[in-house]
Amino acid sequence: MSLPHVTVVGAGQVGATTTHLLALQGLANVTLVDIVEGLAEGKALDLMQAAPMEGFAGWVRGSTAYASLAGSRLVIVTAGLARKPGMTREDLLAANARIVGPIAEQVAAHAPQAILLIVTNPLDLMVALALKRSGLPRTRVMGMAGVLDSARLRAFIGERLQVPSSTVQAMVLGSHGELMVPIVSSITVGGKPVTSVLSAQELEALFQRTRDGGAEIVRYLKTGSAFYAPASGVVEMAGAILRDTHATLPACAALEGEYGLRDVCLGVPVQLGAKGIERIVDMPLAPAERQALTAAAAQVREGIARLSAAVAASPTPAP
Ligand code: APR
Repeated sequence: MSLPHVTVVGAGQVGATTTHLLALQGLANVTLVDIVEGLAEGKALDLMQAAPMEGFAGWVRGSTAYASLAGSRLVIVTAGLARKPGMTREDLLAANARIVGPIAEQVAAHAPQAILLIVTNPLDLMVALALKRSGLPRTRVMGMAGVLDSARLRAFIGERLQVPSSTVQAMVLGSHGELMVPIVSSITVGGKPVTSVLSAQELEALFQRTRDGGAEIVRYLKTGSAFYAPASGVVEMAGAILRDTHATLPACAALEGEYGLRDVCLGVPVQLGAKGIERIVDMPLAPAERQALTAAAAQVREGIARLSAAVAASPTPAP
């Protein structure tokens, strides 16, 4: 069986773990690309040597050349700086814009049919930038954050109630940061509404821990940020795309009137399949949740304006 070609740009913690999972799950042949000479090649070789033990059939190769994007069905962008303690995702804005902008252009040049999945932070802003710089349709440019934020919340609820977190369902929308919006009506534990097992106060504490979920890990790691769960989030989305499952998952998408919002990229439920975003799913929201989503959109729009200023102030170096 011939596997689809996926390129993972950035062979750091998130990129390498994503590649490992894609290979283990038999989802793709993977090209890993990094700007650092030898890094992607070395990790690809290491992963290839895991194949006889793990029994995966796909190949993994490493490269420093963007030309190797050619023929990719899906390009996953994890290139960029990761957060250090005390840094917000926004602190990464200008530095990562100078990395993600040119990569999006390279995707358009070498793999114009590809679906572009952004992981680099600040996520919502990097998706807006990639959409603009790649010129790809909004159905094929998206970001991974909602599945991760939802998984963090599911894990915290599972831990709090001492139940397997896989029995907890939850949908977290909004921006990947302080203004993430957990949708209370979407949260169930063993099929029951979470409100029947946790008080509003208890839930709010878990929501706050979810908002701080990335920072909590950065504080422990000190020299980097989370990568296991982010990689699992990417691979959940990649699986829905590559296997054309039509699954509804939260993802950062460009809005053109959905949820009453436009000119912004934000976490919303999307149906994913082989063509990318098949549709943005209209989910019933409580009035406070709708307001919170609108506030998140306003903050992302301000970020997009700052991003344009930051990129204009420091011209993008050629890749
Ligand atoms: N092209 C290719 N790779 C690049 C480029 C570029 N222009 N610029 C940087 N890189 C590579 C770095 O060399 C490094 O190997 O991106 C990789 C990033 O890896 P890490 O520093 O380990 O960061 P990681 O933890 O993987 O996070 C990457 O994902 O979750 C987000 O906030 C996180 O924005 C960060 C991104």
